Amino acid sequence: MEPQELHDIIKSRRTEKVLGDVLAPTIVSPAIRERNDPLVREAVKTAGMAPFHYPRTKEIAEPWRAYHLWCDDTNTLATHLADNLGVITKEPQLLAASSALVLITWLPQHPQPQTEKERVIEEEHIAASSAMTQNLLLLLTAHGLGNYWSSGGILRSAALFQHLGLSTEERLLGAIFIEYPEATNSAHERKPGSLRNQRSVKWISELDNSDWG
Ligand SMILES: Cc1cc2nc3c(=O)[nH]c(=O)nc-3n(C[C@H](O)[C@H](O)[C@H](O)COP(=O)(O)O)c2cc1C
Repeated sequence: MEPQELHDIIKSRRTEKVLGDVLAPTIVSPAIRERNDPLVREAVKTAGMAPFHYPRTKEIAEPWRAYHLWCDDTNTLATHLADNLGVITKEPQLLAASSALVLITWLPQHPQPQTEKERVIEEEHIAASSAMTQNLLLLLTAHGLGNYWSSGGILRSAALFQHLGLSTEERLLGAIFIEYPEATNSAHERKPGSLRNQRSVKWISELDNSDWG
């Protein structure tokens, strides 16, 4: 791959929030799932080649965990949120529109850090898990799959973790909503990332060693 191709993928990644209808959720056909689900599985696996600094547990060294929910799961969850829990925020609509969802969590090691070293370890677990998450977004983008990194809203809650069978020791880093190109519905409302147009390169500086005394 030419370096420019990687630049192009990074630049073409963009947030697209797709809002569907819980009463008429996206149904992804078996043929479309057969083509796309393996791409998502493979992308998650490859994303896990991100750097990480501290081994988290003896069994699983990486500080992140990833959970797949496929179309049937997201639709079931959308209905649960809307009908059983009466959720009126956007999550049921996002779930109803999505083709797949990946929940990425990280596992705190020092939930209440007491020392600078413990604080750094926590920060670096999050940093590593974020690198993994961005890897995933880029791979999905390269495959032409729509994606949106959400904080998760109600999906972050302990009650939802328990409902899904996830450990409440883990914290949600991102709910990655994925849209398969063949399952795109032009009737769905689409929103870009709210900060997309605030980007600049003003955060880059050159340090000058003559200033260092
Ligand atoms: C950790 C993280 C959490 C985010 N959570 C949300 C969210 O909950 N809701 C939202 O609208 N956008 C969320 N975003 C996406 C940002 O809004 C988006 O990246 C930003 O507006 C820039 O748009 P772009 O990604 O298209 O460049 C999140 C991004 C990150 C990195």
